[in-house]
Amino acid sequence: MSSLLVDDIGELVTNVAGSGAGGPLGLRRDVALLVEDGRVAWIGPTRDAPAADRRIDAGRAAVLPGFVDSHAHLVFAGDRATEFAARMAGRPYTGGGIRTTVAATRAATDDDLRATAHRLRGEALRQGTTTIEVKSGYGLTVADEVRSLRIAGEVTRETTFLGAHVVPAEYADRPDDYVGLVCGPMLHAAAPYARWVDVFCERGAFDADHARAILTCGQAAGLGVRVHANQLGPGPGVRLGVELGAASVDHCTHLDDADVDALAGTARPDGTGTTTVATLLPGAEFSTRSPYPDARRLLDAGVTVALATDCNPGSSYTSSVPFCVALAVREMGMTPAEAVWAATAGGARALRRDDVGVLRPGARADLVILDAPSHLHLAYRPGVPLIRRVLHDGVLL
Ligand code: NIG
Ligand code: FE
Repeated sequence: MSSLLVDDIGELVTNVAGSGAGGPLGLRRDVALLVEDGRVAWIGPTRDAPAADRRIDAGRAAVLPGFVDSHAHLVFAGDRATEFAARMAGRPYTGGGIRTTVAATRAATDDDLRATAHRLRGEALRQGTTTIEVKSGYGLTVADEVRSLRIAGEVTRETTFLGAHVVPAEYADRPDDYVGLVCGPMLHAAAPYARWVDVFCERGAFDADHARAILTCGQAAGLGVRVHANQLGPGPGVRLGVELGAASVDHCTHLDDADVDALAGTARPDGTGTTTVATLLPGAEFSTRSPYPDARRLLDAGVTVALATDCNPGSSYTSSVPFCVALAVREMGMTPAEAVWAATAGGARALRRDDVGVLRPGARADLVILDAPSHLHLAYRPGVPLIRRVLHDGVLL
């Protein structure tokens, strides 16, 4: 059993609240953290730090849990930079470009898809993301969805079956048949490779009835539920997610009072937020030049909020959680502490994980050493590479 001591931490974000001091981030000052066998073994004052096989000096910098990016699409081919340029010249985002990526993905070799997924996973890791969720959804045939999930499974255990991303062109005039395929042979083949099922519930994609049918089948196959909801306009997605006990409803850009009330109604009995998390994806609003979701309204209603990248070639081609944290603070009414919590513990809650997004004995040794004295700098110094070192599963990268 080898041990590693992260010594001389100026500010440690534990996300363990309730001990009195430290606020919701459970901040601790002047501490050291011992890692054994990929897990946090001890946290205490620097002066009491035990001996270890290896020691790394944080130099009084801030240390926080690795980011938990609970929403990303990393298995695809090609890019849509031209579509982005057109949007910046005034064209709206409609989701129609998804079919462009579907065509490129179907035409790609396994090795091409694998190379992109691994490249983006590496990119995210270097920016502090130690847990990432990865969806299928650019294959939309049985074989292409299965191979997407197999490749997703090479970079994460948080894999999501998104066969219902859009109705593919060959089913355009018979969407019921496509829903039948998704609920039948596609789900049957995909379920062994997926932990979650997701649907893009939106005008132009899947309506409430189709989305309910797909999510219910996915649940019956043992998958947890998450929903792309209320991204491009008001709609039934958020309330459907709540009705089905979704771990997360994602985007939440266009909410009415009933949506917020429905989310708030999933309050946990111990008063620590909600069982259905609202995952906000400001990279998408940045890249589609849309109004940002109102995080303040959700937080004030007691809803648990997560922040994630939505990394994909169409609506949000960023793998940077720090970028999303900065956007959320500047544009969505979040405090830096709320945004950092949402990008770590919030993401963990959106994935129903209690071993990540938190630093306490027993948790996974996934952490980030910043090139800064405080978590505040993640929003205060946007665009600056502040991730000095990353520890993933106890291994220093
Ligand atoms: O979460 N909205 C649906 N899916 C992705 C976008 C996919 C794309 O444009 O390629 C999203 O934004
Ligand atoms: Fe998405």
